[in-house]
Amino acid sequence: MGKCMVIGCGGVASVAIQKCCQNSDVFSELLLASRTKSKCDALRDKLQGKTRTKIETAAVDADSVEQLVALMRAFRPDVVLNLALPYQDLTIMEACLQAGAHYVDTANYEPPDTAKFEYKWQWAYRERFRQAGLCALLGSGFDPGVTGVFAAYAQKHHFDEIHELDILDCNGGDHGYPFATNFNPEINIREVTAKGSYWENGGWVETEPMEIKREYDFKGVGKKDMYLLHHEELESLGQNLRGIRRIRFFMTFSESYLTHLRCLQDVGMTSIEPILYEGREIVPLQFLKAVLPDPASLGPRTVGKTNIGCIFHGVQNGAPKDYYLYNICDHQACYREVGAQAVSYTTGVPAMIGAMLVMDGRWNRPGVWNVEEFDPDPFMEALNRWGLPWEEDFHPAPVD
Ligand SMILES: NC(=O)c1ccc[n+]([C@@H]2O[C@H](COP(=O)([O-])OP(=O)(O)OC[C@H]3O[C@@H](n4cnc5c(N)ncnc54)[C@H](OP(=O)(O)O)[C@@H]3O)[C@@H](O)[C@H]2O)c1
Repeated sequence: MGKCMVIGCGGVASVAIQKCCQNSDVFSELLLASRTKSKCDALRDKLQGKTRTKIETAAVDADSVEQLVALMRAFRPDVVLNLALPYQDLTIMEACLQAGAHYVDTANYEPPDTAKFEYKWQWAYRERFRQAGLCALLGSGFDPGVTGVFAAYAQKHHFDEIHELDILDCNGGDHGYPFATNFNPEINIREVTAKGSYWENGGWVETEPMEIKREYDFKGVGKKDMYLLHHEELESLGQNLRGIRRIRFFMTFSESYLTHLRCLQDVGMTSIEPILYEGREIVPLQFLKAVLPDPASLGPRTVGKTNIGCIFHGVQNGAPKDYYLYNICDHQACYREVGAQAVSYTTGVPAMIGAMLVMDGRWNRPGVWNVEEFDPDPFMEALNRWGLPWEEDFHPAPVD
């Protein structure tokens, strides 16, 4: 049906690309474009003969609008799926406007020299995308992504108003390393070492990093400690949910992960301030990334499950109501299917679904949108079909 250009060829992209290739009726042609072309070539070789999707590869520096536009003008994609890093969001959006392609991503823009992510930079493109008749779909991973779709689904089918939302992200997987991150280490560590915050009564309440801790008993995983973090979907959901009073985001971490992280922080290894080392500038966090295990290599060794979902509290027909929507995903099952662990899988599948809905027109409106601004039903159906089935609980244990 259409052409998609995927930018980046890391852990998440490799899953999304394989899912696009399982869905050749929609994704008839793919261009895999990334900084290291050999990774694109290796994935193309792995897929050749197993899919009807025609695959091309190219090298691109996604920090360069000029390079991106040249590649887009040559390939003429209907949709560009950005699975590089959040630093590249704005150059890729700019290039889509110049070359006339729709845009989908999974993480909001973050300036490389400030560990702060916010939607304001990407929302500033609304008018330009609208006038160009192009659609930009932001945050189509799991969180953000499926969590926003779950919220839109709860709002559409189960509530007149949602008053409280707790997003719980549990990774019960064990990779056997004392310390490793399950997606890009630089982005992951910037996220978890930042101050926490939650949305309450129209404003942000800030906390110290990891200050708020709770224990929760997750179906499929068991009891885990989880910590309140700032997370990007809080910003858009705070604007898009009717009657919302409070949104919090919790993620589970093991004691070993936190102890290693504290130690690395104490010695300055998580800093993003450049230092001089043997006459050249290096960023400690980027050096740390280079010595940590590549998240893409965790697949064969990770066992256990993830459970990510949303607990809603609100009212329907004047009566209070609780509702929990979640997905359980098994690391080893993901590895058998696509050679990746569940964190890449739970992000790559929704990235493919978002690109599919923009490509086939069901989620295509000129402008810049967050996932919860579209009809959740086709996305929810696609989750069941493409490997992330969801479950519901009408009597969930609340988070205090
Ligand atoms: N929403 C969610 O639920 C969720 C969850 C996890 C991750 N994410 C997001 O998913 C994205 C990918 O994460 P990941 O774990 O797959 O990261 P990754 O494994 O580090 O992959 C990133 C890819 O982008 C490429 N890249 C980096 N800079 C580039 C540039 N300037 N030009 C071209 N290509 C470039 C890298 O190329 P090299 O191979 O040369 O390094 C690599 O192939 C990130 O934005 C992350 O924040 C979202």
